[in-house]
Amino acid sequence: MRGRNPVVKCLNTIETILRRSEKPVIVVVFPPGEKDEPKSLSELMADRQEQAEKSVLISCPSRTNEKKFLKFLSKHGDINKHFFYESYGVYAVVEFARRDSVASLLESAAIPSVNHECMVPFKSRLLSLSNQSLAASTDRILPALMSLQVDDQIGALTETYQLTEENSRLRFLVCSLLKDVAAAYFPECTIRPFGSSVNGFGKLGCDLDMFLDLDSISGWNFKPPKSGLSLEYQMKRTNSERHVTQSILSVIGECVDHFWPGCVGVQKILNARCPLVRFAHQPSGFQCDLTANNRVAMKSTELLYLYGELDPRVRSLVFTVRCWARAHGVTSSIPGAWITNFSLTVMVLFFLQKRSPPIIPTLDRLRDLAGPADESVIEGNDCTFATDFSKIQLQSNTDTLEQLLGDFFEFYAMFPFSRMSINIRKGREQNKPEMAPLHIQNPFETSLNVSKNVNTSQLDRFVALCQESAWLLQQSETRTQRGSSGNRTTTPWGLATLLLPSKVVGIKGRKKYKKEGASERIKSLLETLKNKNEEPKS
Ligand code: CTP
Ligand code: MG
Repeated sequence: MRGRNPVVKCLNTIETILRRSEKPVIVVVFPPGEKDEPKSLSELMADRQEQAEKSVLISCPSRTNEKKFLKFLSKHGDINKHFFYESYGVYAVVEFARRDSVASLLESAAIPSVNHECMVPFKSRLLSLSNQSLAASTDRILPALMSLQVDDQIGALTETYQLTEENSRLRFLVCSLLKDVAAAYFPECTIRPFGSSVNGFGKLGCDLDMFLDLDSISGWNFKPPKSGLSLEYQMKRTNSERHVTQSILSVIGECVDHFWPGCVGVQKILNARCPLVRFAHQPSGFQCDLTANNRVAMKSTELLYLYGELDPRVRSLVFTVRCWARAHGVTSSIPGAWITNFSLTVMVLFFLQKRSPPIIPTLDRLRDLAGPADESVIEGNDCTFATDFSKIQLQSNTDTLEQLLGDFFEFYAMFPFSRMSINIRKGREQNKPEMAPLHIQNPFETSLNVSKNVNTSQLDRFVALCQESAWLLQQSETRTQRGSSGNRTTTPWGLATLLLPSKVVGIKGRKKYKKEGASERIKSLLETLKNKNEEPKS
């Protein structure tokens, strides 16, 4: 679709509709570009932030009457969107059409009176409703993977576990609520989500990475006049930017710990390479990491988002590999010597660049296609790449997801990890600059290895699992070709075999599985995947 003139395409479509229709028709035309091309990440984020600013989060009794609840809230203005979800109780996210409705609602809320406890009188957009009831269903229908072709199995897995519209809105709302806390010190700040919450590869239950952005504060770029009077702020000076980041995070961390309702387990991890504050936000159920001054990570998020939007196979493959890795304990929610999801994603991108013809361009190619508005240098690192989708022409590659998944496992089963480094900037492996077991060059901070934490035994496990999974997929393929697959609805096959933990625990486990119904096994496996994701990070 991309590459064809959208206006010509639109006119052709209208002509066809008019020609075929015997009755009068109304044709609604969307402005060019709106339907055809994906939004840029910054447009998408601006829309989401706007929604979040107009939203409130309300804890509701378990059987609130939805109609009454909406009628009650509508007194403060029109409601754009609302939904309920469960996390330590039932919550409602309500987005008003106008910001002043939120102010009006907050004005009508009371500070609770309690007898034996004290309150920190911090007013936020997290409220509690009393005397109502509602029934909310968050049940998700588990896909019957067994009866599907591998390509469809991959699609079903992605559909089931990708972030929903609601979950995504909730992530922006939590950022917006946290902004209210940080705004006590920095009224013009913004809190932006990054990482898998917005890069298109997030799975339900993934952490919420947030970045306190102080670049939006006015005054950075004021140039004093060459002559005459001018004023500038007096500001405290410190000896390094890192020190500024640490002290800001330390203070915001204290506020979150002491004042922010619903927030528990605050840890300040200020001596890390990238200082952060980690905490659990109970009303949303999100494990949160707050960083500051982390603009390169924002750029890598944008790059991953761009790659994911270029071709639908990118997201599906990354998603499947992430699920596979989680099912086998290749990745973990606990920090350690495991391969991270970010590293895995870069490995998938590299593999897709190495296809013949390549499915996605190299980062150097994206850099060459960049326009002046894309120029970006952060702390001396060149972070420039084209963000205009219409400038990026893709080569025609018709590989199926089944082929790609099988070849991904084969590719990394054979990859010369001991000598070579993975490099998505060049789209070619490079000699390793240092002796880490797994070397994946950071796309923007090119002297860094994004998988520095990975030890030899974790890498060996990954390679062994790739070998096994490549073999299992070949078996499925051979069975299908011979037409001897038996009953697909009772025997795990294709992607389903790859996700079954029994394959790595050994024969004993496999025997046990034979006794259960296959669909039950898949169902429980999918549940396990979901639960694993929802475990809080320690
Ligand atoms: N990041 C980076 N360099 C690293 C690690 C992370 O630039 N060495 C950036 C990436 O943009 C990454 C984001 O920080 O997406 C968040 O890191 P992390 O939470 O570890 O990864 P996610 O992609 O969010 O995946 P997950 O779902 O596991 O949280
Ligand atoms: Mg993350």
